[in-house]
Amino acid sequence: MSDDARTAADPGTTTGGAVEDAVTCGDLRYSFGQVKAVDGLDLSVASGEIFGLLGPNGAGKSTVIRCVTTLLPVPPGMVRVFGHDAARERMAVRRLLGYVPQQLSADASLTGRENVALFARLFDVSRRERSARVAEALEAVGLADAADRMASTYSGGMVRRLELAQALISAPRLLMLDEPTIGLDPIARTSVWEHITAVRAATGMTVLVTTHYMDEAEQYCDRVALMHQGRIRALGTPEQLVAELRARRDDGSTPTLEDVFRDVAGSGLDEEGGEFRDVQRTRRTASRVG
Ligand SMILES: Nc1ncnc2c1ncn2[C@@H]1O[C@H](COP(=O)(O)OP(=O)(O)OP(=O)(O)O)[C@@H](O)[C@H]1O
Ligand SMILES: [Mg+2]
Repeated sequence: MSDDARTAADPGTTTGGAVEDAVTCGDLRYSFGQVKAVDGLDLSVASGEIFGLLGPNGAGKSTVIRCVTTLLPVPPGMVRVFGHDAARERMAVRRLLGYVPQQLSADASLTGRENVALFARLFDVSRRERSARVAEALEAVGLADAADRMASTYSGGMVRRLELAQALISAPRLLMLDEPTIGLDPIARTSVWEHITAVRAATGMTVLVTTHYMDEAEQYCDRVALMHQGRIRALGTPEQLVAELRARRDDGSTPTLEDVFRDVAGSGLDEEGGEFRDVQRTRRTASRVG
């Protein structure tokens, strides 16, 4: 492990400003044809932080995540990961991160162990270490007992934890999770989060996560950014955002993070970006893991 990896693994040093940020986006823009998916986004995620990217369907969250993973190409200078430019040092960036995409990515026709082993090969984990590291990753997400069952027999929560194990196999310094708990029951959601927070506590990795569940964001994220129409409209700790809305309303009521979300998204919660895609995605999740 390099010196800077060791430093970044200590979340306690992030407040002094001496440690580089895990992710920096400066005026990030990304368009799909005429659609400005991300429209001038400035963002810094501190090393060791669990950072939540929130916002309505179509806000641009997944696009931001995919730009940071380098899966979508951006010009130099817009995205840096632990100081590495996503355009100029693509492979260096990729080596630092783990990624669980919004669409499910485990192969149902393989066992849990085989799925994770596939990622171990992909990420160049040496043959000598491979089986121990795979077993360790499965253990870390509570799948040791189910490791040799086909993934097609897993529940939705188990599949999401399997994907977490896949993403953790490279011991990433930055874990990117795009809606890791979509479609899961409350117990399975808690279980996924417990595994994320346990690995974070053990390794100091940074987590950049998107979610539509405001209760999760409130409970597990150190800071959140609320996106709408490709831009960040509010940024802070969940407590700060709630306190700001309370002060602005000044009517004695106690808002929740969901109220902040509604306030930011406002009339932008339209049919176009929203319901159809959401239903389609939930169905896809259900059919994939059902
Ligand atoms: N491959 C693509 N081709 C064309 N347009 C796209 C593509 N991917 C995303 N978009 C558009 O970019 C915008 C942002 O989409 P994105 O998927 O980043 O939103 P999101 O915040 O992740 O939404 P959700 O909560 O539904 O996952 C939307 O208007 C979407 O329709
Ligand atoms: Mg998305």
